[in-house]
Amino acid sequence: MELSIILPTYNENENVKKIIPKISQILKDEGITGEILVIDDDSVDGTAYVAQSLANEYPVKVHVRKNERGLATAVIKGFELAKGNICLVMDADLSHPIEKIPEMINPIIHGQCDITVGSRYISGGGCKNWSLRRKIISRSSGFLARGLAKLSDPTGGFMAVRKDILEGIKLDPIGWKIVLEVVVKTNSRLQEIPIVFSDRQFGTSKLDSKVKKEYLLHLWRLYGYKYPHIIQFIKFCLVGLSGLLVDTSVLVSLVELLSFDPRFAALFAFFIAVSWNYNLNRIWPLQTGPKEKAYAGYISFALRCSIGFGVRIGIMHFLMEYAQMGKSPWYIFSSLLGIFAGSFFNFMVSKYVSFFKSILKTRK
Ligand code: GDD
Ligand code: MN
Repeated sequence: MELSIILPTYNENENVKKIIPKISQILKDEGITGEILVIDDDSVDGTAYVAQSLANEYPVKVHVRKNERGLATAVIKGFELAKGNICLVMDADLSHPIEKIPEMINPIIHGQCDITVGSRYISGGGCKNWSLRRKIISRSSGFLARGLAKLSDPTGGFMAVRKDILEGIKLDPIGWKIVLEVVVKTNSRLQEIPIVFSDRQFGTSKLDSKVKKEYLLHLWRLYGYKYPHIIQFIKFCLVGLSGLLVDTSVLVSLVELLSFDPRFAALFAFFIAVSWNYNLNRIWPLQTGPKEKAYAGYISFALRCSIGFGVRIGIMHFLMEYAQMGKSPWYIFSSLLGIFAGSFFNFMVSKYVSFFKSILKTRK
């Protein structure tokens, strides 16, 4: 067995009737041995039944998933079931040009690359009858993935891949963009093949706004996968900034509305901001790993932060007493300066602690 063609389907009865004989013909003409794997999510229009009824005549196998839905996970199921050493993924609605199948797999067979991806945006490629709006959406979706892979068309959905490069790779895409996931995670040699995308003639598209939202979330996760430190830093800044906003709002409210002394108000602001940040870190952790126990984790987090809080109060006190910064709005400035100095102090302390810990470890 050489090639496994994976067709994810949901309500495509008219299309499978046409695409299965057409693909089989191409395989025959080109002398390619292979199987067609239909991965159907329990379509209500009898897609699986129609596909299965063709199995006597054509090399087709049908797998029905009863409790799961989704294009990308259907493709992954296809990878699992595939017997061939090359997997080709394509839409079942005849949008991807089946006559390109040989061109998609030849570079892999000849060892020129590990993955081929169909592209509408290189010379020879294109889209039939697309509105300007659709073109703009498609182009900008591609643009957002620029930092992830050298692909002119990461959202086209037409791909062939040498199966062994998928081994040991954990694929967990959200939504549809399995091509991007495979390209980013396998980090392999890539070639783009020009394709002309034509709109379906039967049935309807399943691409909705949920799929578009999932794409953005998926991109975020893949950027995190590829550039973990940058994404961690952005997260760290966002969480820190939100904590700063919470802290300052509480401080200002207490001083302006209840006439608290800013140093006293800072104490309340600190506790609320620490709780805010702690919970935010739990919902949206910097590193994925085992979670600390909520209560104990909170106490130790608050204790660690309170060292910096001491520095902050000291600075606020100094600026208020000796630089006349107690009045509105100057106390806000003294508080911000205190927060920055306190955070820096916390940062240095934690660096020193981990530094000494590592020294102790090497001595042991
Ligand atoms: N098993 C399974 N489960 N298959 C699904 C599901 C699902 O939940 N949703 C869609 N499919 C199948 C469809 O049956 C079809 O074979 C293929 O996935 C593509 O779905 P379409 O509904 O035809 O999507 P599209 O034409 O709007 O989008 C296609 O073209 C876009 C490029 O403009 C896809 O290839 C997109 O990935 C691509 O971005
Ligand atoms: Mn389609």
